[in-house]
Amino acid sequence: MFNNLQLNAKLNLLLAIMFSLIVLVVGSFLAQILSTNAKNTVTDRASLLMETMLSVREYTSEQVKPELASRLETEDRFLPETVPGYSAREVFENLRTRPAYQNFFYKEAAINPTNLRDKADRFETKIIEEFRKNPKNQQTANFREVSNQEFFYIARPIKVSQESCLQCHSDPALAPRSQIATYGDEHGFGWKLNEIVGAQIISIPASDIFSFIRGLQIQVIGSISAFLIVAGIIIDIFLRKTITKPLRSMSQWAKQVSTANTKEEFVHKANDEIGILAASVNRMKVSLEMAMNMLDSQTPKKSDDRKS
Ligand code: HEC
Repeated sequence: MFNNLQLNAKLNLLLAIMFSLIVLVVGSFLAQILSTNAKNTVTDRASLLMETMLSVREYTSEQVKPELASRLETEDRFLPETVPGYSAREVFENLRTRPAYQNFFYKEAAINPTNLRDKADRFETKIIEEFRKNPKNQQTANFREVSNQEFFYIARPIKVSQESCLQCHSDPALAPRSQIATYGDEHGFGWKLNEIVGAQIISIPASDIFSFIRGLQIQVIGSISAFLIVAGIIIDIFLRKTITKPLRSMSQWAKQVSTANTKEEFVHKANDEIGILAASVNRMKVSLEMAMNMLDSQTPKKSDDRKS
């Protein structure tokens, strides 16, 4: 079938196949590079926020808590400002009031929390249980879809690593009075030393960056395709002008020469391969004419001989 096609159609088919391959290969490379890039960007963002929250926690336990610790026994109301998890959460809530960070989430989720707003949901409970099963695992991170929106989360285990934690989280009798007055004695107790009681989870939206990447991909592939189509049209015009059109008129001319319908030479201005071919066929035409003339001048003599 390919053999039956015209030269132009063959070349166009070849170009179309080549260009499609280019778009396909460049497209899939681009998709891979951009998606790796997008993943790195969201991971970096989430990691930065996680480290910031850890710094807020450290600040609270090193600078705020010692200042306020003595008041916990005397105040009627517990001072949650002394709790690292509380300050981290409050700082993050402030961040969330900015429109750009509305869909960012931070939680110190616990299976048995002191403050019920920290109660782990099903998804968070699963993460905490995974950390309990693999105590060496210090971080888990992945993508997750929540109500049709893609999120990226990073989770780190919360371990009761210090004896001092047990004052407020083991036996209610040991806890400051103000804590019992504010939170009651039912939640957030019975924790053990070195037990993984919860997980710090940060969750940031990934849909916007992925749709941005998708848009970029479409733009780049669109521009490459447009460029290749224009290049294809230029190549097609060039091939028609320099090869197929001259060849077609040469074949028409050759047909006329063969039926003795023309005395003209084949005219081709360019000095390319078609020009060389044109010069050769013109020489061949002259030789052919000379041979015919010689034949013509000899033939009548022979017939005369036969007559006499
Ligand atoms: C002075 C008492 C006190 C001490 C000491 C203390 N906590 Fe807490 N912790 C609390 C209170 C009260 C809350 C709830 C604060 C709030 O309202 O968010 C809390 C909250 C938490 C939370 C968030 C989940 C929850 O229970 O609501 C975690 C996790 C936590 N503490 C871990 C620790 C660890 C680990 C230590 C030891 C390094 C520690 N705590 C030491 C009183 C304490």
